[in-house]
Amino acid sequence: MKRVYIYKGFERFWHWTQAALIIFLAFTGFEVHGTFDLLGFEQAARFHRVASWMLIGLIVFAIFWHVVTGEWKQYIPTSKKLIDQVRYYSIGMFKGEKHPTQKTQLRKLNPLQRLVYLSFKLILVPITVISGILYMFHKTIDRNNIVVVQDISLESLAFWHTLGAFLLMVFLVVHVYMTTTGHTPTSNIQAMLTGYEELEDETDQAAVSDNLKSDSKPKKTTL
Ligand code: HEM
Repeated sequence: MKRVYIYKGFERFWHWTQAALIIFLAFTGFEVHGTFDLLGFEQAARFHRVASWMLIGLIVFAIFWHVVTGEWKQYIPTSKKLIDQVRYYSIGMFKGEKHPTQKTQLRKLNPLQRLVYLSFKLILVPITVISGILYMFHKTIDRNNIVVVQDISLESLAFWHTLGAFLLMVFLVVHVYMTTTGHTPTSNIQAMLTGYEELEDETDQAAVSDNLKSDSKPKKTTL
């Protein structure tokens, strides 16, 4: 085994801040929704709006970081070993079989993770954020009579926003469970905290050189 630097500083900051903000937004959002009463509607709505601007700011920085470091290439979907990966998570890992794909610095996501995280970034987060922004400015937009959104009712925006929030919570539960399926139950979480992970040596080397030959390699960066 070799200790490899997998997650860079900004990536770890972005991951944990995003997680904290989404949990806080879910907490305040579901209070606004009327699911429970703790802070009071006014306070929950105020906190929700502040946190939503923080999340938007974080997303802007994260997009910039993914583009300039080339890390976005880690999310390019592939069908290679996708079925093997699904089989591993549903049957193989319970039988103690070996992981079908090897994690490396330049290929940190397995085929299933690529697909799930790409959908998270391109579908789930945009549904929630865009419906949230339209929700926030609905009255102003109506007043200014902007044609594009004129016909979208507040009810349908609330529906899409709540659906996005609900799916984000489902994602969170599944995601936390999946983090326990590494070499040890806490190795993936530790890697996202420290940046380092213990990976198999020879296969790692082989996979790295394999990856270096590929056209779509992300830049090796220490950002
Ligand atoms: C940039 C992101 C977001 C924006 C701009 C946003 C904006 C809003 C706004 C304007 C409201 C109406 C309450 C109010 O007037 O303040 C709202 C409600 C709500 N938000 Fe968000 N939000 C965002 C992210 C999230 C996230 C990540 C979650 C959960 C994971 C969430 C869950 C909810 C829920 C459940 C409601 C109640 C919907 C209803 O029943 O009407 N929001 N949000």
